[in-house]
Amino acid sequence: MSGIRTLSTITLLWLVCGLAASQTDVADGEAIYTRDCLACHMADGRGVPGMNPPLTGSPWVSGPADSLAGFVLTGGFGPEILMARFDYLSDAELAALLMYIRAEFVGIDEPISADSIAAVRSQLP
Ligand code: HEC
Repeated sequence: MSGIRTLSTITLLWLVCGLAASQTDVADGEAIYTRDCLACHMADGRGVPGMNPPLTGSPWVSGPADSLAGFVLTGGFGPEILMARFDYLSDAELAALLMYIRAEFVGIDEPISADSIAAVRSQLP
């Protein structure tokens, strides 16, 4: 009896650990947006008129993914940086974030690889 209980406890632990691991392996673009972008660009991506531009319909968001990655990594390329730099995000996190904002705000549903973000990052000064 206690053998069965031990076995099911182990199975449960294994399941819980497996779930936790799979959640950290795949970066959650929506969670990153909520943490890092929502305060200025708003949950619906419409921004704040006169302060923070909308991401809905933005040519940066609907344009080439590499340019968008460069914008977010540098905070707008400069020389005058109006947005924060988000270069502390990992390649996988930024890829997930950009896929989220493109799907959500301009209706582009395309994969973006962490490798392509790494390539953009390596080109930046
Ligand atoms: C502190 C406020 C603030 C935060 C936080 C912020 N932004 Fe911005 N964002 C701005 C401002 C201001 C601009 C205009 C900057 C410019 O034109 O150089 C901008 C511009 C942009 C643009 C270009 C939009 C356009 O069409 O001109 C994109 C894309 C963008 N932000 C994405 C993001 C993402 C993704 C995040 C989260 C990682 C984020 N922003 C977080 C304030 C913010």
